[in-house]
Amino acid sequence: MNEYRYWRLNSRPLGHDYSSALSLESGDLPSVGDGQVLVRADYLSMDAGVRVWMSAREDSYSPPIPLGTPMQGQFLGPVMESRAAAFKPGDMVRGFGHWATHSLVDPVQSGLTLLDPSVRDIRDHFGPLGLNGWTAYCGLIDVLGLKGGETVLVSAAAGATGSIACQIARNMGCRVVAIAGSDEKCAWLTGTLGADIAINYKKQKVGDELAKIKGGIDVYFENVGGELLDAVFPNMAHYGRIGICGLIAGYTSSHGLPGPARFDQILMKRLTVKGIFLPDFLARGVNYYAPLKKWYDENKLAGDFDEIRGMNHVLLAFERLMRGQNQGKVLVDVRGSSY
Ligand SMILES: NC(=O)c1ccc[n+]([C@@H]2O[C@H](COP(=O)([O-])OP(=O)(O)OC[C@H]3O[C@@H](n4cnc5c(N)ncnc54)[C@H](OP(=O)(O)O)[C@@H]3O)[C@@H](O)[C@H]2O)c1
Repeated sequence: MNEYRYWRLNSRPLGHDYSSALSLESGDLPSVGDGQVLVRADYLSMDAGVRVWMSAREDSYSPPIPLGTPMQGQFLGPVMESRAAAFKPGDMVRGFGHWATHSLVDPVQSGLTLLDPSVRDIRDHFGPLGLNGWTAYCGLIDVLGLKGGETVLVSAAAGATGSIACQIARNMGCRVVAIAGSDEKCAWLTGTLGADIAINYKKQKVGDELAKIKGGIDVYFENVGGELLDAVFPNMAHYGRIGICGLIAGYTSSHGLPGPARFDQILMKRLTVKGIFLPDFLARGVNYYAPLKKWYDENKLAGDFDEIRGMNHVLLAFERLMRGQNQGKVLVDVRGSSY
């Protein structure tokens, strides 16, 4: 059991060809240095943003992952060994480490967090109560100043971040308009998550559907970019606010997306456009756990999971997310994966 397995980034992926760029490797478990913690992963989180770090882009909010090193990502599991005062073996934690059976981390740099044992499903520490939930709350409340009664539009609405954004907006008493890529996702958004309107962007003309919404869109929580953003701009309400949480439509590009084509609408409608970046708020010590947990305990916030089992299926899980085959949070159960 002194061996561990990890995915190594060998080259910059082209499109969604991840198996040519990453390989599953094994090595000896590293020894734990002063101040470090060794965690065994039970689950790995798949997050769209890491696709940007896989690329060579130097103009991103995070530097490229060096080639030949373990792929970076979030884990959740028990502490195996600790030489940091705040953690002891057996503690259940979440943090940033590697797509690996084990991560050796500095608790501060990895954002290592002790998990609240009162949470009914430990996987929710990744979705509604994890960084997806925190980002949605931060974006809607702190960045965009959401108020009850407003009309809120969310793209990639059936994904991990978008599905929580929809529920937060609903809980705030807003009218929720959701955009997603299948009829099944749209039915889940209106039937279970309480969205008022759902638009299937693969079948419907988003601009035409948004034009039917009386009063326009007050707040747009953007996860996609590209053509979708172009369709939204002319349908914003005067003085509307757009929060750019993500631009997944451009993540496989080495230089991002051009545009937006309807930039003129910022003037015509006197819009405000802001970037949403959770780590900026975390660095200031902001903590979004309490309000999210309150809704969670009241059954007003829930996630769905798209779960795959086994270290050897990590790339498959990531590709599902990037291709929109998921509903809810994509994660990999690596419990019992051969070490
Ligand atoms: N700024 C921050 O601090 C922060 C933190 C977390 C996440 N994010 C952003 O939040 C967004 C969602 O990330 P996530 O990890 O929660 O993933 P996710 O939403 O669970 O999965 C990604 C979803 O994006 C949609 N999508 C993929 N390619 C698309 C395209 N070309 N056009 C339209 N939709 C597309 C797919 O759903 P469809 O079926 O609808 O196509 C897919 O399910 C990403 O943009 C990510 O970068 C930002």
